[in-house]
Amino acid sequence: MRWKAVLEGMTPYKPGKSIEEVKELYNLEEVVKLASNENPYGAAPAVQNQLAAATIDPEVYPDGYASKLRTKMAERLGVEEEALLFGSGSDEIIVIIARALLGPGTNTIMATPTFPQYAHAAKIEGADIKEVPLIDGQHDLEGFLQAIDDQTTVIWLCSPNNPTGNLLNSQALEGFLEKVPENILVVIDEAYYEYIVDEKYENTIELVEKYSNVIVLRTFSKAYGLAGFRIGYGVTRPDIATNLNTVRSPFNVTTLGLMLAEMSLEEEAFIEKCRQLNREQMDRFIQYAENNNLHMFDSQANFVLLEVPGSADEAAEKLLQRGYIVRSGDALGTPGYIRVTVGTDRQNTGFFEAFDALLAGVDLVK
Ligand SMILES: Cc1ncc(COP(=O)(O)O)c(C=O)c1O
Repeated sequence: MRWKAVLEGMTPYKPGKSIEEVKELYNLEEVVKLASNENPYGAAPAVQNQLAAATIDPEVYPDGYASKLRTKMAERLGVEEEALLFGSGSDEIIVIIARALLGPGTNTIMATPTFPQYAHAAKIEGADIKEVPLIDGQHDLEGFLQAIDDQTTVIWLCSPNNPTGNLLNSQALEGFLEKVPENILVVIDEAYYEYIVDEKYENTIELVEKYSNVIVLRTFSKAYGLAGFRIGYGVTRPDIATNLNTVRSPFNVTTLGLMLAEMSLEEEAFIEKCRQLNREQMDRFIQYAENNNLHMFDSQANFVLLEVPGSADEAAEKLLQRGYIVRSGDALGTPGYIRVTVGTDRQNTGFFEAFDALLAGVDLVK
C-alpha cells in the first residue's frame, strides 16, 4: 500500500478507559469519568424524554442541509442561514477545514498545548505545523503574528483553550484579527462557549460580521449534553461556508442528532442551570487548589488543569484505582498536571477525597 508518508509515526486517537473497564479492572462499584469534559448533568430532561419517544424512519437519509436546525440556529445567532455549517461534532468541521485549506506547501499555526485535532488533521493533509507555546496558559497572539508567512492558510485559536481552560481576551483578539492577512482563515474554537462567565467576554459571532476571514466553532457535545449524537457547527461568512460545505460529506449528521439538537435549543433554562452549577463547583476546585497549594489555570470551561505532586501519569493511575478517570497531562503536553472535568457536587467531593489520599501518599487498600 502506498500510504501518505505523513502517516508514518502517527497513531489513531486512543480513548481513555471506559467506566466499565475500570470497574472490572479494579473491582469497583462506582466509577466516575471526569476525562472528556462531557456534561455531568446529561442532556436536558425534555431532550432525554424526546430521545425515548422519538419515532424516526431509520431507512431514510438525514437532511444533509440540517434545514430546520439551520433556521433555528440562524435566528438565534442573528446570522444568515447560509453562514452556517454543521458537522458530526466540531471534530468533523476541523477535518473539513483542513481538507479545504491545507496541503503540502502550506502551513498552519496553533498554540501548544491546545486541542490536538488541529495538528492531527493538518498533518494528514501534508501541511507544516507551526506551534506557538502558551504563555501562562494564554495564547501568545504576538507570537502567532510573527509565525505568519506567505504559506500560512489557517490559524487555530481555542477559547477557552483545551487543556488549560483559559479564555482569549476579546480586545486582544480583535487587535489580532486587524493584523492577520485576509486570505488566512482564523478558526476560533469555542467548544466550551456556554460555560463562559467572564464579563469581559464579547460575543465572537460579531467578529464574523466584522472580519471576512473568521469561523467560530461551537458544539452540542458539551453544555447541551449531546456528545453521543455528534452535532457541531461553524458560523462564518456565506462564501466560506459554501466552500466548506462542498468538502463536507452529504449526510454527515444523523436524523436523531438533528432532532435532539433542535429540541435542546428550547432548553435554555437547563443550560443556564448547568453554567451556574459548573461555576459553583469550579469554585470548589479553586478553593481546593488554593488550600493545597497546587497551581491551577484560570478556567472558563467545564474542566480544570490541576497540578499534581510528582508524575501526572502516576497521579492519574492512582485516581483511576479509586474510581476517578481523569486525563494525565503527560499525554496533553502539560506534565505535572491532570485535566479534570468539573463534575457534580457528589462526584467532586469523591474526587477531592481521592486526591487527598493521593496527597497523603495513601495507596489504595483492596
Ligand atoms: C476544544 C475542543 N474542540 C472541539 C472538540 C470536539 O467536540 P465535538 O466533536 O464533540 O463537537 C472538543 C472536544 O473535546 C474540544 O475540547
